[in-house]
Amino acid sequence: MPSSPRLPALAPGLHAVLALPRADQPEALRDLRRALQAAGAPTPEAWNSRFGTGSLFDAWTRSSLVEGLHRANGEVLREVLPRDRPFRLLEIGGGDGRLWERVLPEDAEGVLTMVDPVPEVADQVRARLPRGVSLDFRPGRAEALAPGSLPDVDAVVCSLTLHHVAGRDMAERRVHGLLGPGKAEVLRSLAAAAKGGLILVNEADVHCEIDLPPGDPVLEERMLDSYVRRCALALLDDVAVRADADDDLRGRWERVVLHWCIEQLDLAAVPLPDRDVYELDAPRWRALFRRADLSLVREVPTDRYGLFRQYLLRP
Ligand SMILES: C[S@@+](CC[C@H](N)C(=O)[O-])C[C@H]1O[C@@H](n2cnc3c(N)ncnc32)[C@H](O)[C@@H]1O
Repeated sequence: MPSSPRLPALAPGLHAVLALPRADQPEALRDLRRALQAAGAPTPEAWNSRFGTGSLFDAWTRSSLVEGLHRANGEVLREVLPRDRPFRLLEIGGGDGRLWERVLPEDAEGVLTMVDPVPEVADQVRARLPRGVSLDFRPGRAEALAPGSLPDVDAVVCSLTLHHVAGRDMAERRVHGLLGPGKAEVLRSLAAAAKGGLILVNEADVHCEIDLPPGDPVLEERMLDSYVRRCALALLDDVAVRADADDDLRGRWERVVLHWCIEQLDLAAVPLPDRDVYELDAPRWRALFRRADLSLVREVPTDRYGLFRQYLLRP
């Protein structure tokens, strides 16, 4: 008996919504969501709240979107790992650590320093590291790091995490009534840890930063574009074609679509500090990297839906 019942009305319902004129899609999505909930859709699981076996996050990192992103990161990281001594790496936002399971060889040796506000992440990541790699876990948010507190490392990975930091910099945050560091200040602290080494950033290509206020129809349209037209469709393609998935995984991918893609549109209406997602489109990410005095060495898309990009940066 699968632990995640399927949602058979989801895929046909979503494809029907996306066939409508764009202006009609938000309301039609709300109707679809109500219909799925009335049909007994399971309890939501918030993004980045559980990471273990059977969680939606576990299903997320097994999706083709994330597998492709990790594959691209692996190609880069395997090149920069030192061959004559143990490595020293830093990751901001670790999730379930699946990246490291996919990237590090069994005989790897080194230290992975990880900054993440969720304590469970430490257990998840540790369980996926080879025996010769130790985890130096620093609980907390990247923007709360004390200056100079990060070790010198060979490379920094900041994958699908920087969008949780609101505002391009302190000055932009102040304009919107927020205090403390923004993305550029976080990137500068990573550059200090990387010395001349590589900083690898993965992010979605969609502008929904704090300059778009809650309730702005443009914000809702942008979130719909990334979370539904790209992310949800990619996951439903996995549901339809992935021969390695069982019914439980398919059921969890469907719930990711419902709870993390369709319901995510609610964030377009919440007060600014609660939005939790402050993405930039590719030209704006590039401008941000310049503002943080980082050189862009390479930029590649990591999926065929135009959702995620990999940026390789050097101080
Ligand atoms: C979507 S996951 C990305 C996981 C992994 N890097 C990957 O690419 O598969 C985001 C991670 O960032 C963490 N996170 C959220 N806000 C953060 C912040 N402000 N600073 C550091 N980590 C944060 C979450 O707890 C979660 O582990």
